[in-house]
Amino acid sequence: MNDTTRALRPAIGAVRRSFSPWTDPQARPLIRFESVTKRFGEAVAVEDLSLDIFEREFFCLLGPSGCGKTTLMRMLAGFEEPTAGRVLLAGQDLTGVPPYRRPVNMMFQSYALFPHMSVADNIAYGLKQDRLPRGEIEARVEEMLRLVQLEKLATRRPDQLSGGQRQRVALARALAKRPKVLLLDEPLGALDKKLREETQFELMDLQVRLGMTFLVVTHDQEEAMTMSDRIAVMDHGRIVQVATPGELYEQPRTRFVAEFVGDINILEGKVAGMEEGGWRVETPHASQALTVFDPDEVLGHGQPVAVAVRPEKMTIHRQRPQGPNVLEGEVWDIGYLGDWTVYRVHLGSGAVVRVSCANASRFVADPITWDERVFVAFAPDAAILLSR
Ligand SMILES: Nc1ncnc2c1ncn2[C@@H]1O[C@H](COP(=O)(O)OP(=O)(O)OP(=O)(O)O)[C@@H](O)[C@H]1O
Ligand SMILES: [Mg+2]
Repeated sequence: MNDTTRALRPAIGAVRRSFSPWTDPQARPLIRFESVTKRFGEAVAVEDLSLDIFEREFFCLLGPSGCGKTTLMRMLAGFEEPTAGRVLLAGQDLTGVPPYRRPVNMMFQSYALFPHMSVADNIAYGLKQDRLPRGEIEARVEEMLRLVQLEKLATRRPDQLSGGQRQRVALARALAKRPKVLLLDEPLGALDKKLREETQFELMDLQVRLGMTFLVVTHDQEEAMTMSDRIAVMDHGRIVQVATPGELYEQPRTRFVAEFVGDINILEGKVAGMEEGGWRVETPHASQALTVFDPDEVLGHGQPVAVAVRPEKMTIHRQRPQGPNVLEGEVWDIGYLGDWTVYRVHLGSGAVVRVSCANASRFVADPITWDERVFVAFAPDAAILLSR
């Protein structure tokens, strides 16, 4: 696809902006996991999990290794049957429906390419099985080769490819059939950063253009944030939170989610009361109680709670700033990332907080440096309270 053809289509944003069927109580999900449990002997891989995914949604599963992501996908694809509960597609119970009868295609974490076939034949395989006309097969294979930038390697066999190239073949093969639902298990894990970012945007574009529903597993939370309409964060076979990327980042419901998605400073403390609409939290990290506006939390006096603040929502100063929520410490470490500088500040309490500042101008006359005594501040509405 070139820039001109892309310009003729509606921008992804235009489609995405108005897309939020999960907020519509009338909307029927395309995929429904209904109290699904999967046990392997004694081990519980997925536990009493319920989840709705809507048609045309780009849905990501995010979570640590072994939390049950692949197992969940395999149950939807039909390679595993739930121990309890049901999986429904467009209202139809999928129990007992074999994989090839489901309008679902899965790209495996291990690629599972056919070793004796060329790249092009691997991609064409499913299309030939479906007995598509030869011209159409050729056109699709060509389009897919272009998408994953493997035009020049079409005649090679998988064992003549690098890991990242093999992964791209697997992705192309899964996409070629244009299934209603596409399951991608770590589709971009083996690609370098630049190719990975390009492919992310191509995937989003293709998904909108072909009106497919994507369920994607990734270990990369930035990737999940970039691509998804919604993300489910999983832990130990359960879903901890399902939300849009923005909600997940700004309103994580638990410490696990807060720490799993993005970087965050956690200051442990105790509720000391409520004043003018703000919670007062006593913590060993600050000389005065912290003030947090978080209307979502209902807390009791003396209850242990964490004040969580993202590094970019903190500011760093040489002079003590006016206002609430000031922490005092010493600059331990400075990480210069080009677009951002990250300061690690060692507080008197022994805790270390990370403060990030955007480098808006190229020269700063007298920058804060190592070992300086500094003040770190944040606004009452910049923090979240986490009681779980
Ligand atoms: N066939 C199996 N037999 C026994 N245990 C299994 C089987 N498949 C998965 N498990 C176990 O179920 C749990 C979930 O596995 P799963 O592959 O779904 O994790 P995952 O979230 O995909 O992890 P990763 O990110 O490492 O791919 C793990 O503890 C795993 O060891
Ligand atoms: Mg997996």
